[in-house]
Amino acid sequence: MPRSDAQSACGRDLPAAMPGLPVRGIGPLRGTLPETSQSGEMMKPVRWGVLSTAKIGLQRVLPAMQKSAYCDIRAIASRSADSARRAAGALGIPKAYGSYEELLADPEIEAIYNPLPNHLHVPLTLQAAAAGKHVLCEKPIALNAQQARQLQAASGKVLIMEAFMVRFHPQWLRARELVRGGGIGTLRAVQFLFCYSNSDPANIRNQADIGGGALYDIGCYPITAGRFFFEAEPRRGIALIDRDPDFRTDRLTSALVDFGCGRHLDFTVSTQCTPYQRVHLCGTTGRIEIQIPVNAPQGAKTALFIDDGSSPSGAGIRTETLPESDQYMLQGEAFSRAVRGEISLPYGIENAIQGMGVIDALLRSEASGRWEEI
Ligand SMILES: NC(=O)c1ccc[n+]([C@@H]2O[C@H](COP(=O)([O-])OP(=O)(O)OC[C@H]3O[C@@H](n4cnc5c(N)ncnc54)[C@H](OP(=O)(O)O)[C@@H]3O)[C@@H](O)[C@H]2O)c1
Repeated sequence: MPRSDAQSACGRDLPAAMPGLPVRGIGPLRGTLPETSQSGEMMKPVRWGVLSTAKIGLQRVLPAMQKSAYCDIRAIASRSADSARRAAGALGIPKAYGSYEELLADPEIEAIYNPLPNHLHVPLTLQAAAAGKHVLCEKPIALNAQQARQLQAASGKVLIMEAFMVRFHPQWLRARELVRGGGIGTLRAVQFLFCYSNSDPANIRNQADIGGGALYDIGCYPITAGRFFFEAEPRRGIALIDRDPDFRTDRLTSALVDFGCGRHLDFTVSTQCTPYQRVHLCGTTGRIEIQIPVNAPQGAKTALFIDDGSSPSGAGIRTETLPESDQYMLQGEAFSRAVRGEISLPYGIENAIQGMGVIDALLRSEASGRWEEI
C-alpha cells in the first residue's frame, strides 16, 4: 500500500473528544464563574446528589466540585444515616439521607455522582436514570461491556458519563496537543506502569465478587490512555495475569493491546507492588512522559518531560510545567455544563462500552492464553 494510503488508514478513527470544550485549566486555577448562556443569562449551578460516603468522593471529588460555581452539592446518601450526616457535616452539604433511594426520590436533585463499588455502578445508575437524574458514574462504568450496554436506553433520556477525570486534566490535553502537532513524530507506543500496595481484605479492591482487582481499578487508565492518545480503538489484546490466592482478584496484570498500523499500548498494573505511576508516549522522533498521569496533585502544577531522543542520559529532555489545575473540578464542570446544554457531553455511553470491551478481551485472554479480538 502506498505510504499515503497507509497513513490515511491509520489516522485517527475517533471524533475529536470533548467537542466544544475549551482546554480549560491551561491558565491558572480559578474559582470558575458560570458562563453566560446563549440567552445572555448566567448558567445556574447544577444541583448534585452523591451516592455513598465513598472515600474518593469525600476526599477528592466533592471538595473539588464544591470549588466550582457550576456545581452545587446539595445532598449525600449512605446506607447509614449517621455516616451520611457525618459526611454532610464535614463537607457542608445541606441534606443527608440514610438510604440511596431517598436521595434518588429528592425532586431538587438534578445530577448524581455514583462512586459505589464497581458491581453497583450499573444498577444504581439505572435507578438514578429512572428517577430522571443525570449520572456521573465512577470508573469502570460496569463489570463488562454487556452490562454497560444496559445503560444505552437510559442514556437517551438523561446524560450518563464515566468519570475518567484524567481526560480533563490539562496535562493529558497538552500531551495530546503535542502528539497531534507532530511534536514526537508519529506516536507508536503508549507504555503505562501503575502500581500500589494494598492487602486489606476489607478494601473493595480486594473483593472479587464486587469488581475488585487491578485491571478494573487501575488497568482501565492505561486503556483510556491508549484510546485517548492514539485517538483510535484497539483491535485485539493479550494479557498475563497473576491472581492473589486468597482474594482471587488480579494483583499483577500485564497486557499488550494492538491499535493496528504499528501502534501498541503495553501496560503493567498491580495492587501489590510498590506505588508508582508513569506513562510514556513514544513517537518516531521524540517521547513525552507524564510525571503523575492519574493522581495528579489537586490544585497543583504538573509536569511533562519531553525528550528529543538526542541522548540516552536524558540530556535532551525538557520539562514543560503546567499551571495549577484540578481534574475533578474540571470534570464536574464539564458534566454540569453539558446538563445545562452549554456544551455537548464530552464522552457518552458508547465510549464507555468500548473501554469495557477492552477489559473483556483481556479477561478472555487470561483464560485462553491467546490474543483476543476486541
Ligand atoms: N476517579 C478516581 O480518581 C477514583 C479513585 C478511587 C476510586 N475510584 C472509584 O470510586 C469507587 C469507590 O472507590 P472508593 O475507594 O472511594 O470506595 P470506598 O471508600 O470503599 O467507598 C465505597 C462506598 O460504597 C458504599 N457501599 C455500598 N455497598 C457496598 C459494599 N457492598 N461494600 C462496600 N461499600 C459499599 C459505601 O458507602 P455507604 O456506607 O456510605 O453507603 C462505601 O463507603 C470505585 O468504583 C473506584 O473504582 C475512582
